[in-house]
Amino acid sequence: MKCRESGMPDEALWATFFDAEAALAKLWPGPHGDAVELGSGFGTFTLAAARHTAGIITALDIDPAMIANVRTKAKALGLSNIHLQEHDFVAGNLGVPPGSQAHVMVYNLLHMEDPVPLLRKAHHALASEGSISIMHWRCDISTPRGPSMAIRPTPDDCAAWLAEAGFELIKHVDLSDCCPFHYGLTAQY
Ligand SMILES: C[S@@+](CC[C@H](N)C(=O)[O-])C[C@H]1O[C@@H](n2cnc3c(N)ncnc32)[C@H](O)[C@@H]1O
Repeated sequence: MKCRESGMPDEALWATFFDAEAALAKLWPGPHGDAVELGSGFGTFTLAAARHTAGIITALDIDPAMIANVRTKAKALGLSNIHLQEHDFVAGNLGVPPGSQAHVMVYNLLHMEDPVPLLRKAHHALASEGSISIMHWRCDISTPRGPSMAIRPTPDDCAAWLAEAGFELIKHVDLSDCCPFHYGLTAQY
C-alpha cells in the first residue's frame, strides 16, 4: 500500500531542497557498507549514497516510474552499486536478508499511517553495528512542499517511534546548513 501523501512534485523543484551529499555526511558518517533506502523516489539520496559507500545500496520504491527514472540516472552516471527494486515495504519485508545492512535510510516518509512496524523491519535488517537515519520536513516553519501539517511528525515523535522499534543512542541532527526545511535523526541498532 502506497504511504499517504507520498507523491512527488516536479523533479527539478525537489532537487532544490537538498544538498544530499552534505546531508549524508551528517546522517551516515559510518561505518559504511550496504544500505537499504525506503522509498527512493527520484534517487536524490540513492545516487549520493552510492558515491558515499563502496557497499550496495538497495533502493525500494512501489512506483515503477520512479524505479525506471533512477535506473536510467544510475546507468548514465556509471554507478553499479545500486540495486533498485519495485517493492512494497508496507505489505512485505525490506527485500534484504535479516542482519545484513550497515544502514537504513528513511527520508520524507514517516508521515505514513503506521511507522513503528516499518521501523521494526528496518531494525531487523540491520547488522549489530548498524545505524538508521531519518529525515523529514520541519513542522515548526512553513515549507514550500511536504505533507500537510496535521500528519507531519515532530522530531520527538520520530525519536519515540525509534525507541519503540528497539533502536538505541537516538540523536537529533541539525541539517539547517544543507537542508533548511528538514530535520534529521540517527540511531543505532
Ligand atoms: C515523498 S517520496 C520521498 C523520496 C525520497 N526518500 C526522498 O526523500 O527524496 C516517498 C517515496 O516513497 C514511495 N513509497 C510510498 N509508499 C511506498 C511503499 N509502501 N513501498 C515502497 N515505496 C513507497 C513513493 O512512491 C515515493 O517515491
